[in-house]
Amino acid sequence: MNTLQVKLGNRSYPIYIGSGILDQSVLYARHIKGSQALVVTSNTVAALYLDAVLENLRSYKVAKVILPEGEQFKNLEIINQIFDTLLVNKFGRSATLIALGGGVIGDMGGFAAACYQRGIPFIQIPTTLLAQVDSSVGGKTGVNHPLGKNMIGAFYQPQCVIADTDVLNTLDDRQLSAGLAEVIKYGLIRDAEFFGWLEDNMEALLSRDKKALALAIERSCINKAEVVAEDETEAGVRATLNLGHTFAHAIETGIGYGEYLHGEAVAIGTCQAADLSRRMGWLSDSDVDKIIALFKRAKLPINPPDSLNPERFLQLMSVDKKNVDGEIRLILLKAIGLATLPVGVDEKLLRTTLESYRN
Ligand code: NAD
Ligand code: GLY
Repeated sequence: MNTLQVKLGNRSYPIYIGSGILDQSVLYARHIKGSQALVVTSNTVAALYLDAVLENLRSYKVAKVILPEGEQFKNLEIINQIFDTLLVNKFGRSATLIALGGGVIGDMGGFAAACYQRGIPFIQIPTTLLAQVDSSVGGKTGVNHPLGKNMIGAFYQPQCVIADTDVLNTLDDRQLSAGLAEVIKYGLIRDAEFFGWLEDNMEALLSRDKKALALAIERSCINKAEVVAEDETEAGVRATLNLGHTFAHAIETGIGYGEYLHGEAVAIGTCQAADLSRRMGWLSDSDVDKIIALFKRAKLPINPPDSLNPERFLQLMSVDKKNVDGEIRLILLKAIGLATLPVGVDEKLLRTTLESYRN
């Protein structure tokens, strides 16, 4: 097992990464302070891993809530099921919430933990590649609103992250690829050497080579932990983690939550951001070709849905947390391995990118 640290003063916490660590009860005991624990999970994950997690919690008063699956259920109505269970079981402020699942469960569980009695401790047990490399680390929690993705939320850090690489064996190929979109992101925004490694190892990752996957997860978490430690609440550099996300969120909201996987939308959005970066004079044609080729090799989509015309895209992109006074601001690339902070862009150029992708 490898242990990384997210360094945030008295809110610092470890990320445990390794094979078979879901069963290590010492990790739970180390981070559960009270006598009550609530496990929040979803149907598929419950069938696969809930018993193994509960086995570690025999000495606690335990409750569980199994939520429906998918992005379309990441909302305020469904999150009430978590609050209901906490209240019915008379769980208090020292109860620990354990989020066992993909990014949807992690984001919702974390947000419920942030809100319940104004904050109870929580543990992230991410079970998708995307959640292990991104969403479980850094304390962004929340739910979607019909008018905008992740628009209701809080920064709230977990006590620890337990990323068992074995659980990825049951993940389907489409979900694995979706996770790779966020892995590629780290190479693009701040780690050109990692981008090169990904170019050399994409097939190993897709065939679930254990060593390659473990390295990709670790390197991603190192990158994420460094960014979060520098800028926990996204006053600056953390925004670079949103490369491609303004386009992606427009796709997810515009087409309907759950139609595209988040990672798929991020892959498309990043190709659009790369195209715009080229039009800004920053990336070369060959940089953009390399980026698109890597997403394709990761078996990710690169073209936005035909049904979103540029007008609709712009409308959706105007609802984004990075925007200032109604101006769309994007993370773009100066080079492979170097992202900009949020920048305003010439609307004509942005329209050209949106148009060019339609053709
Ligand atoms: P997800 O949570 O919807 O999980 C994908 C699917 O995989 C689900 O159906 C789930 O049941 C299934 N699954 C999970 N683990 C499994 C396993 N081990 N074996 C078999 N099936 C398994 O999707 P996701 O890609 O994990 O997360 C996407 C969400 O994460 C989005 O809502 C996105 O906004 C959010 N996100 C948040 C952050 C953040 O910083 N908080 C960062 C990136 C993404
Ligand atoms: N996934 C974006 C962030 O954590 O800031």
